[in-house]
Amino acid sequence: MKKAALITGASSGIGAATAIEYSKNGYFVYLMGRNKERLQEVALQCRGGASIVSCDITDLPALNKRLDEVLSAKIHRVEVIVNNAGIYDVHSTEKGSDEIWTREFEVNLLGPVRIVRAFFPYFKQHGGGSIVNISSTLGLRPQGPTSAYAAMKAAMVNWTQSLAYEGGEFKIRANCICPGIVDTPIHSFHNLDPEKKTEALEKMKTLQPLGRIGTPEDVARAAYFFGSELSSWTTGAVVPVDGGINLT
Ligand SMILES: NC(=O)c1ccc[n+]([C@@H]2O[C@H](COP(=O)([O-])OP(=O)(O)OC[C@H]3O[C@@H](n4cnc5c(N)ncnc54)[C@H](OP(=O)(O)O)[C@@H]3O)[C@@H](O)[C@H]2O)c1
Repeated sequence: MKKAALITGASSGIGAATAIEYSKNGYFVYLMGRNKERLQEVALQCRGGASIVSCDITDLPALNKRLDEVLSAKIHRVEVIVNNAGIYDVHSTEKGSDEIWTREFEVNLLGPVRIVRAFFPYFKQHGGGSIVNISSTLGLRPQGPTSAYAAMKAAMVNWTQSLAYEGGEFKIRANCICPGIVDTPIHSFHNLDPEKKTEALEKMKTLQPLGRIGTPEDVARAAYFFGSELSSWTTGAVVPVDGGINLT
């Protein structure tokens, strides 16, 4: 059976780059997200083969249906899950509504929990598996008015470590990556016209010791390392991939 990876949020940014990275390394990839057109574009760049499993991860019946399809596939064995789908929100605790907190919880935490819960029996049955959770440096150290987002990303860090404990005896590994500022559509600066964007990026450069913000590929390579056998003796790791911004 060909080894496969399930990547959530694969239609854009870090998830798309991660899917392409796994594909380059011989994995069949299951691409999850809502935007079928963009998933299709990513699938075309995955030369190792790809299948689109489009759904909103907050829609439980739709998610379960998609997960059943992946879990029952006979030609590919999923060895890796990359929980990458996420939404960002810029509100303080004072300004953030219940609706914002609920949405942040459902997309950034409950969705990944449901996916892992569905995969645990499958991983046990197949002798192991690897989970990579994409958190954020804001989950390690909050900054700015992003309290709901930062709280969910902090919960993801802690949950990853619980998973590492729970999964160890079944050879299920769980690791967490905390990206810094990465140039993707999640940020409003991503689609600025070139002059304004250069200006915005110049300002952000000084925030990181390595002198630049990240690319989706910078994170994708780490997501490949922690998901694949390259990191076979690592579990429960929480790793900033952030140009050093966590040191500033
Ligand atoms: N970029 C950064 O600076 C940065 C820093 C730290 C952490 N991160 C984290 O990295 C991850 C990827 O973000 P990105 O920067 O690559 O942003 P992005 O380009 O906006 O990608 C977000 C992805 O999440 C998917 N998604 C959002 N809501 C979803 C839902 N309800 N159901 C299914 N899929 C959903 C989107 O797919 P559809 O629109 O097709 O549904 C998209 O593929 C996120 O968890 C984010 O918090 C990013």
